[in-house]
Amino acid sequence: MQNIHIFDTTLRDGEQSPGVNLNQLEKLEIARQLERFGVNVMEAGFPASSQGDFEAVRAIARTVRNVSIAGLARATKSDIDTTWEALKVAEAPRLHLFIATSPIHMTYKLKKSPDQVVQLAVDMVRYAREKFPQVEWSAEDASRSDLDFLAQIIEKVIDAGATVINLPDTVGYATPEEYGRMFRYIKENVPNIHKAVLSAHCHNDLGMAVANSLAAVENGATQIEGTINGIGERAGNAALEELAVAMAIRQDQYPYSTSLNLKEIKRTSDLVRKLTGMAIAPNKAVVGQNAFAHESGIHQDGVLKHPQTYEIIDPAMVGIQSNELVLGKHSGRHAFKDKIEKLGFSLADDKAEEAFKQFKLLTDRKKEVTDEDLFTILTDIQTSV
Ligand code: KIV
Ligand code: ZN
Repeated sequence: MQNIHIFDTTLRDGEQSPGVNLNQLEKLEIARQLERFGVNVMEAGFPASSQGDFEAVRAIARTVRNVSIAGLARATKSDIDTTWEALKVAEAPRLHLFIATSPIHMTYKLKKSPDQVVQLAVDMVRYAREKFPQVEWSAEDASRSDLDFLAQIIEKVIDAGATVINLPDTVGYATPEEYGRMFRYIKENVPNIHKAVLSAHCHNDLGMAVANSLAAVENGATQIEGTINGIGERAGNAALEELAVAMAIRQDQYPYSTSLNLKEIKRTSDLVRKLTGMAIAPNKAVVGQNAFAHESGIHQDGVLKHPQTYEIIDPAMVGIQSNELVLGKHSGRHAFKDKIEKLGFSLADDKAEEAFKQFKLLTDRKKEVTDEDLFTILTDIQTSV
């Protein structure tokens, strides 16, 4: 079975989320948890961006030994040198070198011709390989680049020594069909592509980062980049926990393996939420508070009879103890009975029916009925004559 490498960039692209600023100890704590989660590569930061990030990346490189540690660098010798200084102590250091390849970026941001961009990319990859055993080269804004130009520059950077080729959908613009097509085109039109690992890196501006990443894998990518909880620039990056679970649950569609320990998902997600201060939407897939909660009576009844009626993911698979039947105005007798038994009450049928009526009346006033509310209702009814 094809193994897909997981490249986590929570500590670099994830930290680029507006309002997020992790100190060295916080980065180290997340890095250790990412190691437990089982990622293959972790991008620890952008060492040339600040002294603090340099030190944090170096501390991670010293401490986390079972994961390849990457650092981001622009296409300049000074960025490459700084990144090497931060990473040279790592067990498997990787430089992540990027330069934009789309017409809009080359013209307005870099103010360079396509030929100049090719030359710079080749020179910097060659320079980087004098130090780094692994050089990942990213064509920033690849999904809005000309495919022939992309194929040409990729062939040249592989000749110069790039070991990984990453094709980001930097602005989250691509559709799954387009993004997959780009990978197929590169696989079929770059003669030396077999010498490098192909990698997908997707942003979520149109809500398609996970779908796009999977489309890339179906078309030849063997590395996926993403972040925990999908945090990152603007609308974020592909959420690694969603990718991991999608591949695990839909092996029929995605017959790939990863080294991830899915049971660490909840703990990893909680830690990233806590230390970044970025809240998770309650309805977020896999790790949102409501991802395993059922409110409607019909669903609760189904789940009590067989969890898979309305639950495609076993909560235990991602490190969550159990699902939750939330009692609200849509809940029915079945879930109510289940709940009162769990609270330790055993009521005769007429009393249970009375308690259910009182509970329903309360749901017109309160969105969610808590265990304390139920306790009050049930105790009153149990003691009434
Ligand atoms: O989205 C992007 O293009 C990036 C690059 C720096 C790889 O994060
Ligand atoms: Zn990015």
